[in-house]
Amino acid sequence: MSGSSAAVIGLGYWGPNVLRNIMEIDKFDDVYVHDINDNNLTRNRIKYPRISLTEKYDEILDNDNINCVFICTPPVTHYGLAKEALLKGKNVLIEKPMTVSVKEAEDLIRISEEKSLILMVGHTFEYSPPVEKIKEIIDGGILGDIYFVSMSRINLGIHRKDVSVIWDLATHDFSILFRLIDEMPRKISAVTNSFVKKDLKDVAFINMKYDSGIIANINVSWLSPKKVRETIIVGSKKMLIYDDTMSDEKIKVYDKGVELLKDPDSFGEYQLTYRTGDIYSPVLKSTEPLRIEIEHFLECVSNGTKPRTDGYCGLKVVRAIEAAERSSDKNGEVVEINAG
Ligand SMILES: NC(=O)c1ccc[n+]([C@@H]2O[C@H](COP(=O)([O-])OP(=O)(O)OC[C@H]3O[C@@H](n4cnc5c(N)ncnc54)[C@H](O)[C@@H]3O)[C@@H](O)[C@H]2O)c1
Repeated sequence: MSGSSAAVIGLGYWGPNVLRNIMEIDKFDDVYVHDINDNNLTRNRIKYPRISLTEKYDEILDNDNINCVFICTPPVTHYGLAKEALLKGKNVLIEKPMTVSVKEAEDLIRISEEKSLILMVGHTFEYSPPVEKIKEIIDGGILGDIYFVSMSRINLGIHRKDVSVIWDLATHDFSILFRLIDEMPRKISAVTNSFVKKDLKDVAFINMKYDSGIIANINVSWLSPKKVRETIIVGSKKMLIYDDTMSDEKIKVYDKGVELLKDPDSFGEYQLTYRTGDIYSPVLKSTEPLRIEIEHFLECVSNGTKPRTDGYCGLKVVRAIEAAERSSDKNGEVVEINAG
């Protein structure tokens, strides 16, 4: 990327992680940072004296050397900031969730295509070694036909100010689910409540149904005594648990199942036989997912190739969240994910 510069927008909790990786990868001539909060802007200067700070987004937009913009601001600001950057000819890596409406996501895709720019969404888990390994296991047929997927992402806080727990946490699970299973669920229902702050959903139970028969559920919450980051996948041959809170053995594959066998002693009767076999835990690479994600973005910008988590991938997740919110507004009524 020599001859070009990058800009990181938003330096609250997540932006500094993005900045650290950009500085470590060290592919840009200059790195600019912008935040509307002075304290968040200046505190990174001490760590990286080489970065240029600016309080004005226009300075980023008008700087023709900047060809990559990393948007790490709250979700409600993603659309406006990304749109301006794309219109000024910059490639954009936008944090999850891509936008807070399908309409906004479609608009960003349209602009990026018209301008032949890279638009990528920071679905970090799609770059994580455990998710990659699970995809390999599913695609290799090790689990057999997938029956169901059950996902939990719960802990105490932090309540975001701008979006519900679905937009904040379930984004991760939707993106993991859509990466793992090639089919999209057709129907969704969500039961939610806002216990702590009025009109800010902090607990959600989301259920989905696929045409093939697969069912899936996502439980997200900012109100839990325990941090849980767990995905259980049950297939016709084997079962799998992915526990992202573990430092090692994050994935365990269980040779467990149940078979329906003809009862030899009676005509037309069946017996259930439960199988309990070995448990194995595959070795995983230890590379930081965010590093893999940013390197992939830079590669796509250099080669003009389509990112794995492009705008359409971001749109799928936004569409599912919008449908879940629609269902929640109707007290958990089942709705079609693709319906407007
Ligand atoms: N990929 C991941 O795993 C992951 C993890 C955490 C957060 N995120 C995402 O990163 C984004 C930021 O989350 P966070 O937890 O760091 O939020 P945060 O509230 O801690 O930080 C946001 C920062 O953006 C600044 N900001 C707000 N509006 C701005 C604007 N219009 N222009 C410039 N700066 C602005 C704020 O001053 C603040 O410093 C969110 O979209 C979140 O969903 C992604």
